[in-house]
Amino acid sequence: MFFTKFPHRANMTFAERADQLTLQCGKRAFQMRLRHFEGGISHLQIFDEDRLENGCLLDLIPPANAADGPLSFHEEGHFSLALSGVDSALIGRFGVCEQTSMFAFEVPEDARFFGMGEKYFESQERSGLRSKFYNTDVWSDFHFGQWEEHPTDPPYYTAPYLAVKVGESFFGLLLHNPYPAFIETPGIDESRVFVEWQRTDPFLLMGNEGGQPNLWIIEGPTLADVTRKMQSLVGKTPRPPLWSLGYQQSRWGYRGEADLLEIDRLFTENDIPCSGLWMDLDYMDDFRIFTLKPGAFPNGVHSCAQKLAQSGRRIVPIIDPGVKRDPGYAVFDDGIAKNAFCLTPEGRPFVGLVWPGETIFPDFTLGRVREWWKEYAKDFRLSGFGACWVDMNDPSTGPVEPKHMLFKEGTEPHFAHRNQYALGMQMATFDGFLAANPEERPFILSRSGFFGSSRYAAIWAGDNLSNYFYLANSIPCALGLSISGQPFNGMDVGGFGNDVSDALMLDWMKLAFLFPFCRNHSKKDCRRQEPFYFPKSVMLILRKYIRLRYALLPYLYNEFIKHEETGDPILRPVMYEFPGKPNETLDDQFLIGPSVLQAPFVSAEMKRAVRLPGRRPWFDLSQGTWVSEQKLSAFRSRQGTPIFIRSGAVLPMATEVPTDGNIDLKQVEFHVFLDEKSVQSEYVYTVDDGLGFGYKQGQESKVKLTVAAVSGHVAIASEWLNETLGKFDLTFVLYGDVKSLKVDGENRVLESVKIAPIEKTFSVKRG
Ligand code: NOJ
Repeated sequence: MFFTKFPHRANMTFAERADQLTLQCGKRAFQMRLRHFEGGISHLQIFDEDRLENGCLLDLIPPANAADGPLSFHEEGHFSLALSGVDSALIGRFGVCEQTSMFAFEVPEDARFFGMGEKYFESQERSGLRSKFYNTDVWSDFHFGQWEEHPTDPPYYTAPYLAVKVGESFFGLLLHNPYPAFIETPGIDESRVFVEWQRTDPFLLMGNEGGQPNLWIIEGPTLADVTRKMQSLVGKTPRPPLWSLGYQQSRWGYRGEADLLEIDRLFTENDIPCSGLWMDLDYMDDFRIFTLKPGAFPNGVHSCAQKLAQSGRRIVPIIDPGVKRDPGYAVFDDGIAKNAFCLTPEGRPFVGLVWPGETIFPDFTLGRVREWWKEYAKDFRLSGFGACWVDMNDPSTGPVEPKHMLFKEGTEPHFAHRNQYALGMQMATFDGFLAANPEERPFILSRSGFFGSSRYAAIWAGDNLSNYFYLANSIPCALGLSISGQPFNGMDVGGFGNDVSDALMLDWMKLAFLFPFCRNHSKKDCRRQEPFYFPKSVMLILRKYIRLRYALLPYLYNEFIKHEETGDPILRPVMYEFPGKPNETLDDQFLIGPSVLQAPFVSAEMKRAVRLPGRRPWFDLSQGTWVSEQKLSAFRSRQGTPIFIRSGAVLPMATEVPTDGNIDLKQVEFHVFLDEKSVQSEYVYTVDDGLGFGYKQGQESKVKLTVAAVSGHVAIASEWLNETLGKFDLTFVLYGDVKSLKVDGENRVLESVKIAPIEKTFSVKRG
């Protein structure tokens, strides 16, 4: 497969006639089905007898049927997209060239494109690009020289989805077909054009290189509308266990209990909170998955897990899909006996070259193989491991040509399922963990994925490098994932490959400490990246940000709770809350939830420009002041980072930051941000056990806070929407020129306090 070659529109035969049921493309006739769903969602399926079924492991989850939707067909073979807020309907065409199918849309020149999931394209806006969607193992599938400082494409995770902006309205286009996909967007960026004839097509092109054409169209009009609807279609991320939102420490090289206890001791000794210790390949017996190296856990995993539980930390092991080709090794023998592996066209178990050397691959497209895997995952959980990190599931075959790796007992081509291989692995692993402990929410981290992975796993963006290119790209990459259906995402903090410098580590932690998933991971032979291996002055700053994450965990966790209700992403583009052109190119700023705006340093520069969106002032957490300017310069400081809080925001924050991995959601204070104008706002805070499914039966406490402030006189009303887990104290910390505070009609005594959230000590009032 060439990653840099794309189907050209001129080579496609486009439909010239259509009726209710058939599309005629040249000599070929295709059956079609057009359905509509509530909320302005249309679903177009085109059936080709000469192609295999798509065999998607997961269906999308549409809302109720509707009589019509944005898409309709014309007799002449083209279709129109009539979208609310868009003056005239957009014209689209469907074309084919052998197994390739293409949708071509005429879009106005001012159309802009967002989404595409995990991409390293340096900006969140995706105009003028050609991109493939085919899960790769980047370090194995591209040359080192390419991926070190430049974007390689495609990376590990596939989401052929676009949020398109026409005029002021957004709509979504999603290809639900696991075959390799492509998208080509009309261009505006001259720097991306090498010679004139390489300019991208003036039409928006998207399609697949096989499989049954399957397009979802999602009406907006806002980006938030489109994102919520698409997230509901692909599936929202269920409430994760609270500990998985804590800081996570990984390192390729931890060998077993002795190393973990040493790392645990160093975290404790340095008062740094941490909730998970992650083990790479070295705990295994010679790269045999689901085994332990003799002596790695002398008294079993359970005993080590119990020791670490005292400091609130879990052990998370890596598991690759590849099984060592090694007769006598139980997983291999059992899998062979059960015909669990992908086959070559001649029916032999397909062999790749991965960590164990010759490696064979479970066929996760088969339900019976997922059941087989699930039993191993279940035993693994029962042995004491607290979660699972599924890696190399692109799937990586090393230097071996993967096209000979067939699915469904050797009957279906590699192309047909590669993009959903990781999804099958996530499903089976998740189910195994759930079977082992039905009372607990499983936590799975995966490298590759596809639509629907959001229901099973968090995604980390694979192997990055310790340099400013990857640091800066973390933002547009995370924004792309967040608005393309994968809200639980993060990057290796500090960078995976190469030696990180002190300065880069500090910048990285300041940038990523509030990312939905926050794990520091690094490669074996690189500089140690655990906070306590840096000079003390650096460690103290790293610790401060890790602690700030824990202080804000009640807020972060509640953003996940709200995500499960609404579909809003956790990390979001500034334009998500503040639509408008200038915010569409803010690639070095992002929001966590609706209220926390970060503008971190993404280069070694001493000064950077910050844009504060909207018309209200923002509270500068570093300086402890309200800022009214919309454009300002932030100056680099060793301790601080530009973070701004939205006026009217209510942030639940831990009253005391833990020095281990534990957190009590009831021990919170509500930090309320009030600029000098009058403020009206609302916030709902939910508390549950952070671990089980009781919340589904209402085992939670939920309080709604309504804030009204006029000329410094503040009234806060609380309404308990649920008190099953009991009420808790409602204490408020007020930022602003506050003269009086009433809570539920009663005057509260205001106490002036000095706090230093980041750098400066400044006065606030508590009541
Ligand atoms: C590749 C993964 O991306 C990386 O995180 C891991 O450390 C190595 N495999 C070794 O398992």
